[in-house]
Amino acid sequence: MKNLIVANWKMNPETAGQAKDLFEAVKKGISDAKVEVVICPPFVYLSESKGITLGAQNVFYQEKGAFTGEISPTMLKDLGVEYVIVGHSEVRKHLGETNEVINKKIKALLKEGLKPILCIGEDEGQEKSAWLEMQLTECLAEVTGPSMENVVVAYEPIWAIGTGNNCSVEETTTSLLFIKKVLSNLYTREIADNAQILYGGSVKAENAASYLKEAGAGGLLVGGASLKPEEFLQIVAAAE
Ligand code: PGA
Repeated sequence: MKNLIVANWKMNPETAGQAKDLFEAVKKGISDAKVEVVICPPFVYLSESKGITLGAQNVFYQEKGAFTGEISPTMLKDLGVEYVIVGHSEVRKHLGETNEVINKKIKALLKEGLKPILCIGEDEGQEKSAWLEMQLTECLAEVTGPSMENVVVAYEPIWAIGTGNNCSVEETTTSLLFIKKVLSNLYTREIADNAQILYGGSVKAENAASYLKEAGAGGLLVGGASLKPEEFLQIVAAAE
């Protein structure tokens, strides 16, 4: 399985012109990359990009109708989107997204043939194992074993996001193994072994390789560093 490097631009950059420049700089640098690179810009910039694998940062679970301000899986698919981030801690925190809502989003995405990137992670002071197990169990309720082939899990400890305080390789290794164990209990050992599990949280050029080569992550979810094309391309190179 190829490493998956996902750029989460969050609510950046400020103009479509800047987004176009960023797309172009990244596209040039990854033309023959041996890893899968996915760019998740804000919704409004999705149509600015061609020739790059696209992800969205959120979605609504209904197909269409009176849901002011929302975007459906079908709309994203129509724009060429392949992946969608769900359960990001910033959406959980600022928009009150619950595991139940995330579960509905995951099922709606899978139905439309889109690949959810399910973010999970504990905050400081939380009992990690119980928390991660609950997030996985609730977010993946009624998601079948065969569908898991299209679900990516991203382990992002909340305290490590945007802080520069990245998770140690040892702790990441333990957490990724624990996530596999939970997936194995929910599904089968084989499904758990084949699951693509990313690490995210203050990933930089200098620490990217350690998560992939030492902690056993199947890829990275990159926030801040994905806005700096030179550094992002170094991260992609580290994954090759
Ligand atoms: P960060 O963000 O790389 O800026 O820590 C990661 C994320 O929120 O996905």
